[in-house]
Amino acid sequence: MKVLAIETSCDETAVAVVAGEKLSNGFSFQVLQSALISQANLHAEYGGVYPNLAKREHEKNLPIIFEKFTNKNIDAIAVTQGPGLEPALWSGITFAQNLAKEWQKPLIPINHMEGHLISSLAQPTENHSSILQNTRMPLLALLVSGGHTELILSKEWFRYEVIGETLDDAVGEAFDKVARMLGLPYPGGPEISKLAERVRSAKDSPLHAEESPWKLPRPMLNSKNLDFSFSGLKTAVLYALRDLTKESPLQEDEKAAFAREFEDAVADVLIAKTRKALAETGAKTFVIGGGVAANAFLRESLKKLFETEFPEVDFRLPDLSITGDNAIMIAEAALARALSGLDDTTKGEIRAVGNLSIATK
Ligand code: KG4
Ligand code: ZN
Repeated sequence: MKVLAIETSCDETAVAVVAGEKLSNGFSFQVLQSALISQANLHAEYGGVYPNLAKREHEKNLPIIFEKFTNKNIDAIAVTQGPGLEPALWSGITFAQNLAKEWQKPLIPINHMEGHLISSLAQPTENHSSILQNTRMPLLALLVSGGHTELILSKEWFRYEVIGETLDDAVGEAFDKVARMLGLPYPGGPEISKLAERVRSAKDSPLHAEESPWKLPRPMLNSKNLDFSFSGLKTAVLYALRDLTKESPLQEDEKAAFAREFEDAVADVLIAKTRKALAETGAKTFVIGGGVAANAFLRESLKKLFETEFPEVDFRLPDLSITGDNAIMIAEAALARALSGLDDTTKGEIRAVGNLSIATK
C-alpha cells in the first residue's frame, strides 16, 4: 500500500510518499519520496512560531513541494489533523482535501503524536526503509516536543492512555524559552544541546565540574504522579540569569555551563518519571519520540537507564532523521493503521483540532 502524507502542524511544510507492507509481526516501510521546507529561520525573528505566518508559508510552500512529486500512483492521502497550530493545520488539511477530491483517493486524518510514536518505533534498514516489528506490549512512550511532554501507555496497538503529562510548558518549549534567555536563536533545543555538549566534552575546562556552579530546581522530581512541570524551571532560569548578569554579561563558557545545568535538570526529571512509569506499568517496550528525542544527552541518559536498570525492556531510540516534524511519520502511522484493518477514512470534511489528544479512552 502507498500513502502520500502531508504535515503542516507547526513550522515544517512536509510531504512524503511511503510504501508499507504488513509483516507477520509488524510492518515494513519504504520512503519513496520525501521533501520538507522548514520555516524555522523565518520564525526565529519572533523567537517562536507565529501561527498566521506559518499558515501563509505552508500555503505558499505546499504547491512548490508538491510539484516535484512524481509518485502519483498512491492508494490514500494522509494528513495531520492535530495537535498543532490550527491555522497551520488547516492549510495542510485544505490542500489534502482538494487533492483527495481531484485524485478520487480516500483521505486519512492522523494524530501528529501517533505519527511521532509509530515512526520512532521503526528501526531503519538500508535504502530509506525501516522495519517495525516484534513490539511486545505493554508499550510505554515518552513523547517530547515543542508542544507536548507526555507518557503514554499502550496495552494494545493503536490504543493509548496518557499516564503523565506536563501541567504547563512542554519540554521543547522550555528549551526554546531558555535558549532565548541565553541569547541563542530559535529553535533553541539544538543550540542548548550543542553548548552543553561542549562543556561535557571539554574535560580540561574549569566549568567541566561534575557539579554545576549553579543549581536549578528539578520540578516534580519526587511527586507521586507521572506528571511534569517546566514553567517553574524556566522562571528559575530567568531569576538565576538576572542575578548572574547583574554586573556583567555571561561569558561564553559560563553560558555553556548554564546550558549544561539546564539540560541536566530536564534530563533528571524525564529519567526519573520514565523510571517510575516503567516500574508502575511493567512495560516491555519503551520508545521516545518527538523533536526533543534528538537531544544527545537525553538519549545517552536513557541508554544508561535501560542498560543498568531495565535490561529486559526493549528500548527503541528513533533515528535522528525522523525526530523532528516530517511527513514520513504521518504516512507510517496511516499505513500501520490501514494495514491493520482500521478504516479511518472520512467521507465528510476533516476539521483541524489544535488540542487533539492521542488518548483513546
Ligand atoms: O516534534 P517537533 O519537531 O515539533 C513539535 O511537534 O513541536 O519538536 C520541536 C521541539 C523544539 O522545541 C526544539 O527546540 C526541540 O524540539 N528540539 C530539541 C533538540 N532538537 C529539537 N530539544 C533539545 N535538544 C535537541 N537536540
Ligand atoms: Zn512534532
